[in-house]
Amino acid sequence: MAPHESKGRPGRAHAHGSSAPEELHHEAQTALAVGDLEVARIAIERLGRSLEMHFALEDRVYFPALATLRADLAGTLQRFREEHDSMLTYVTEILAALAQQDATAAAEGLDDLITIFLRHEGREEAMLGALERREEI
Ligand SMILES: [Fe+2]
Repeated sequence: MAPHESKGRPGRAHAHGSSAPEELHHEAQTALAVGDLEVARIAIERLGRSLEMHFALEDRVYFPALATLRADLAGTLQRFREEHDSMLTYVTEILAALAQQDATAAAEGLDDLITIFLRHEGREEAMLGALERREEI
């Protein structure tokens, strides 16, 4: 488990091992590296579903709950929602590249996506960490 996952929130999609976006990214890249586009496609589709579940939980459960407690976070939460949508668009574009047999574009898109995802996760964790510390004082 990567260090940034060590204090994940309960019920997070990537707490379930094989559906972790990082693992599916690795699985897809490995398949692309050996030219197995079908295995890559399956891993990328699973990655997309994993992200969809993960984002839906935040958009529909965590963020609305947070927004009722902290109206000042509305702008931050909206930005996170927009990033969710943007990352799902990336998945669609990666699958489109793959459908064109463009493994290079798919691999580059996958690396961009996972980098954006991990940065996004880091900023969400930082926000939650700050909220938790404030609540405990
Ligand atoms: Fe998020």
